[in-house]
Amino acid sequence: MNAGDAASPSLQYVQLLREYWQHNGEEALICAADLGKKLVHAGLPPEDIGEFQQQALVTLGRDLPAIALEEVAERITPPLIEVLVAYGLAFREQTELRYALDIEKRMEQNHKMEALGTLSAGIAHDFNTILGVILGYTEMTLDLAPVGTPTHRNLQHVIAATLRARDLVARILAFGRRSEICKTPVRIADSLDESLAMLGMTLPPSVVLRTELVQSDLVVLADPGEMQQLIVDLTINAVHAIAERGVITFALDTVTFDPATQPAPPELPPGEYVRFRVRDSGCGISSSVIDRIFEPFFTTKAVGHGSGLGLSVVYGIVQRMGGAISVKSELGHGTEFEMLYPRFIA
Ligand SMILES: Nc1ncnc2c1ncn2[C@@H]1O[C@H](COP(=O)(O)OP(=O)(O)O)[C@@H](O)[C@H]1O
Ligand SMILES: [Mg+2]
Repeated sequence: MNAGDAASPSLQYVQLLREYWQHNGEEALICAADLGKKLVHAGLPPEDIGEFQQQALVTLGRDLPAIALEEVAERITPPLIEVLVAYGLAFREQTELRYALDIEKRMEQNHKMEALGTLSAGIAHDFNTILGVILGYTEMTLDLAPVGTPTHRNLQHVIAATLRARDLVARILAFGRRSEICKTPVRIADSLDESLAMLGMTLPPSVVLRTELVQSDLVVLADPGEMQQLIVDLTINAVHAIAERGVITFALDTVTFDPATQPAPPELPPGEYVRFRVRDSGCGISSSVIDRIFEPFFTTKAVGHGSGLGLSVVYGIVQRMGGAISVKSELGHGTEFEMLYPRFIA
């Protein structure tokens, strides 16, 4: 039998059912298996396969008006099952392949971040020493310059700029930090309150902040200062992404990963996690750069407006907490950062 490769899958299906109805042929069953696989590659979702089969059956039934549909269905059960089984196997294979590729991509990303962390921490460390020398000598010279003279004023500018540079270097070091930080139980809802209070007046009134705290008592092990920094960095990015008016939503709940029902992301062991999501209705992130946003120094902002360190610091903080961070975004439709932290239960 030739089910006709050029025909649409639904037409092929009806043809092979008809063939089976007429001849009970082995060949129709082989075609059914092929069709099952083809449906997966054509992107038919599992929830639609039942409807797809029903349609084919009804179409075949129209050829055989004298016979009840149940009877038709009963006689063509083997190819119906064959399609389903082949579909199921191919679907599973495709899902596993996607999952494997996803793991590979994430591992690669983790290695890259680790290498960048080591590299930038090394440079930052040396740089810090040099800045210390600049600062020390400038302060000494400042003491020699009479107050009110241009030299005194100029040296004050040098000191201010050096302190800004030190601040920047501290952030690079924060990203590359490997050592264990001082972790204590932290209620994320409290960190959120504190961070938003800290940002307070700097947030434009056209940006609405919303919280969806399904559970407000969730505790994680973290450095409280780092947790605040993370929230501040994500919020500032969201504010930047919202050109005029918009909403930033902070959502907190839990999720439990279990290999049997809901597998964990590749880098996390199974268990209960606190899920913290920061969503904005801003400009979104283009797919051409989304893979790079966590890299240190990656920025799409104009020179002087972004250091490209915010998200790399956030990434480092989440890593040190034994968690994971991911991002979903659609250009023009906003962005959502999702963080998963191991839940701490006292
Ligand atoms: N909420 C967001 N919406 C849109 N783009 C974002 C968002 N957060 C981060 N980005 C993108 O990721 C880049 C890196 O962010 P970040 O590391 O904080 O550095 P910076 O803010 O200094 O550019 C940003 O330049 C921007 O392109
Ligand atoms: Mg930033």
